[in-house]
Amino acid sequence: MASSASLEDIPSMDLMTELLRRMKCATKPDKRLILVGPPGSGKGTQSPIIKDEYCLCHLATGDMLRAAVAAKTPLGIKAKEAMDKGELVSDDLVVGIIDEAIKKPSCQKGFILDGFPRTVVQAEKLDEMLAKKGTKVDKVLNFAIDDAILEERITGRWIHPSSGRTYHSKFAPSKVPGIDDVTGEPLIQRKDDTAAVLKSRLEAFHRQTEPVIDYYSKKGVVAQLHADKPPNVVTAEVQKKARQASCLSFLMHKQQIL
Ligand code: AP5
Repeated sequence: MASSASLEDIPSMDLMTELLRRMKCATKPDKRLILVGPPGSGKGTQSPIIKDEYCLCHLATGDMLRAAVAAKTPLGIKAKEAMDKGELVSDDLVVGIIDEAIKKPSCQKGFILDGFPRTVVQAEKLDEMLAKKGTKVDKVLNFAIDDAILEERITGRWIHPSSGRTYHSKFAPSKVPGIDDVTGEPLIQRKDDTAAVLKSRLEAFHRQTEPVIDYYSKKGVVAQLHADKPPNVVTAEVQKKARQASCLSFLMHKQQIL
């Protein structure tokens, strides 16, 4: 917990903004969402929109691993080789980072998992973690899309590293090519965003991650999205499915009380 001395150091405007955010968030239903889909299907583009709408934390294992690689932490050193080749990092490493992350206060109202779970073992471990807290996954949004569309999306993607803002040279261009609209800082392309590495990433998706969709289908929590549609159409679908998830979890919560 922050000490009163450190609170005194925070500017009043920041404290007010945080207070207002917490008041707004108090009325929001809890929600635990998983976004699953192949590389470039739009998970990272859509996550910030529902994150803000429902006061959830956004946990993207790919982003966390890239940060660890950049900082050369023991985790990053272990993960780098697999990531560069477009293969999955070991289950133990990613389960550990998610287990830690979902305990953070920012995940109090729930979370959006983006890129996790990617294997059935990861899904089982996640369900065990949630069962210990008496909760479970509310909805799995399946970003369904044909592989043929993804190469253009992946090779045209540009990222602003410090904010995570994503652009696309054709579908969502920045005002000045290669420059972030907000900060004016340079944009970068991910090392694994090449046609050659995409092949391995897609292979890993079909072989190891599609079974995760079957795993959650059996639990009746999967919602299909048409991820090949334009971004604003996908956003509307995501918002609709996320709303349905909260109605369902609200009703189940009520049933438990009665
Ligand atoms: P990760 O970072 O998770 O990559 P990914 O799953 O391959 O997903 P992407 O970030 O590439 O795609 P996205 O769906 O977020 O697409 P975006 O919205 O940016 O993982 C990287 C690596 O880390 C893995 O290969 C693995 O090694 C490791 N890893 C991570 N998690 C792991 C785990 N759980 N277990 C083991 N290993 C793990 O969109 C892409 C582009 O398209 C953007 O430019 C965007 O502007 C554009 N776009 C988005 N939507 C649309 C649209 N509707 N129409 C047109 N363009 C669009």
